[in-house]
Amino acid sequence: MALQIVPTEATLGAVVRGVRLAELDDADFAAIERAWHDHAVLAFPDQHLSEAEQASFSRRLGPLERSLTANNVGADPEIIVLSNMREDGTLWQADSAHGLFLQGNNYWHTDSSYKRVPSKGSALAARVVPATGGETAFADMRAALDALDPGMRDYLEGKSAVHSYAYSQGKVGGTETLSADEWDALPPVEHPILRRHPATGRDALYIGRHASHIVGEDEGDSRALLERLCAEACRAPRVFVHRWRVGDLVLWDNRCVLHRGLGHPPDQGRYMTRTTLAGDGASNEWSLQAG
Ligand code: OGA
Ligand code: MN
Repeated sequence: MALQIVPTEATLGAVVRGVRLAELDDADFAAIERAWHDHAVLAFPDQHLSEAEQASFSRRLGPLERSLTANNVGADPEIIVLSNMREDGTLWQADSAHGLFLQGNNYWHTDSSYKRVPSKGSALAARVVPATGGETAFADMRAALDALDPGMRDYLEGKSAVHSYAYSQGKVGGTETLSADEWDALPPVEHPILRRHPATGRDALYIGRHASHIVGEDEGDSRALLERLCAEACRAPRVFVHRWRVGDLVLWDNRCVLHRGLGHPPDQGRYMTRTTLAGDGASNEWSLQAG
C-alpha cells in the first residue's frame, strides 16, 4: 500500500497509513517530514515499533533531547517512559509524587518550554493503553494566532514570557521527583510569545502551562492574560484528539502545537514511551547528539 496522508477535520493533524516507520525509505521520509510541517501532528496507527526503532525513526528528524531523570524510568536516556505502572505491574497512586508528576502532562503545554533551548518535537508511542480515557489532545497554535484579534497580536508582538518548571509543576505537585541538581539546571527562561517556524515561516503562539507571566509586566495580570489566551486558543476547530491503540505512534511539532493528556481511571495501566527532538541551535546543553 502506498503512503497515505489523511488530514483530520481540525486545523491540524493527519493520519498516516501505508508505511512502516521501521523501514522507511528516503522518499517516504521526505514526504512524512513535509506532512509534519504542514499538519503539525501526524498519527501513525499500528506501527508497533520497538524502543530502538522509535529512537532511530525520531533521530532522522534531528538529535534527541536529554530528559529529566524523573521521566526516565528505563536506562536509555533517549527513551522517556510515561507510565503509571511499576515494573512489577502494580500502579502508582494518582496522589503519589510520581502520579502528580505525570498529572502535570494533563495541562496544555509544549514539551520542554522551560528549557533554555526548548524541544522541537516529540514522538509518543502507546505500549499499554487503558480501556477508557487516556487520549491525548493537540491544539494548533498557528491557527490560534491567526484567529487572534489584530490588536492583541500587536500587543504581544515582541513580548516574551517567562517559562518555569518550578512554577508549572509546583502548582500540580510531585516536584520532589527531581533532584536538587536538576532543579539547579532549570532556572526560569524567557521565550518570545510569537514564534516563527523555521521550516514553514508560519507564526504561532508559544504559550502553555510552563509560561508563568510576561516579561516586564505585572505578574498576576499577565498570568491571567496568558491563561485566557491559552483557553481561547485550545478550542475547536483547532483541537485534534487522538484515541490511542497499542502500537500507535504520534509525532507532533512542539514549536507550534500545545498538547495535553485527558487522563484516565487511576486503576488502569497506561505505558507510553516518548522520544523528544532537541531544539535547533548550535549549542544546546539538552541535546544528546552523539559525539
Ligand atoms: C507527552 C505528554 C500526554 C499524554 O508525552 O509529552 O504530554 O497523553 N503526554 O501522555
Ligand atoms: Mn508533553
